[in-house]
Amino acid sequence: MMLSIELCGLSLRNPTILASGILGSTGATLNRVARNGAGAVVTKSIGAKPRDGYPNPTVLELRQGLLNAIGLANPGYNNFEEEIKVAKRGGVPIIVSIFGFDIGEFVEVAKAVQNFGADAVELNLSCPHVKETGAYFGTDPEITYELVKAIKREIKIPVIPKLTANVNDIVEIAKACEDAGCDGITAINTLRAMQIDIRAKKPVLGNKVGGLSGPMIKPIAVRCVYEIANEVEVPIVGCGGIINGQDAVEFILAGASAVEIGTGIYFRGISIFEMVCNEISSYMKEEGYETISEMVGAAL
Ligand SMILES: Cc1cc2nc3c(=O)[nH]c(=O)nc-3n(C[C@H](O)[C@H](O)[C@H](O)COP(=O)(O)O)c2cc1C
Repeated sequence: MMLSIELCGLSLRNPTILASGILGSTGATLNRVARNGAGAVVTKSIGAKPRDGYPNPTVLELRQGLLNAIGLANPGYNNFEEEIKVAKRGGVPIIVSIFGFDIGEFVEVAKAVQNFGADAVELNLSCPHVKETGAYFGTDPEITYELVKAIKREIKIPVIPKLTANVNDIVEIAKACEDAGCDGITAINTLRAMQIDIRAKKPVLGNKVGGLSGPMIKPIAVRCVYEIANEVEVPIVGCGGIINGQDAVEFILAGASAVEIGTGIYFRGISIFEMVCNEISSYMKEEGYETISEMVGAAL
């Protein structure tokens, strides 16, 4: 039985990938995740200029997930070269998540991180809480098409747009990405959400609105992957609420070639990647699967 996969031309020893924004701000933490079994790692989203992000509180624990509004805090790509170089020593593919406030900025960051050694870029077209970037680019198929096309023209490494489910029709956005020549699609980012402090009588997050992650969003994410897989050919990376191997298998059967794990680390610790792989293996043994690719889209 084999857990290894090919994803957009990259070889992964298993289909579990660190999701953007969790333990992805330094080369050292990315290496730690690699040592703990992830098949690939995605960095925190990196932009053109340093950003401080939002005032506290920025992350809340809910019953079955997290609500965050970090505000794309990041050091800017010029200060991230060393981290990518250190991360490369982890021995797994490094996918650099990038964002920009216009197409030119996205292209500038994509070119820079390619030069620093990124194995692929994931385009954050889906941040739910920073105006004029993130979901701004991932909710209109024409803008999405122009952006992906512009980046594909300029870089050679795989381009993987990450989509938001905060749209009427995620398939329309996925198709725009595919038409523009993307190499894969990640679905989904967090969902716009809010919590109110009933004593203070106001929203708890510093930014008021944030992004919901964890088990609460999993059924939505699985539905998105299933819908996209029915309509596009490029590989899909499933993301949203994966805590165990059964969750990962659900995404794979819905059409994902690999899965990203973020909030799950909060619930099960950094060894979640190894645990999920063992649980996927047990399922494969029980069901008589030899390879991950045999399972991809089996529920379609
Ligand atoms: C604290 C936190 C920070 C995040 N930061 C980013 C980010 O910088 N870029 C991005 O594309 N997604 C970011 N995400 C979204 C995750 O990558 C992922 O898409 C989402 O949390 C759903 O997966 P999960 O339920 O496994 O966490 C963040 C999520 C959390 C919880």
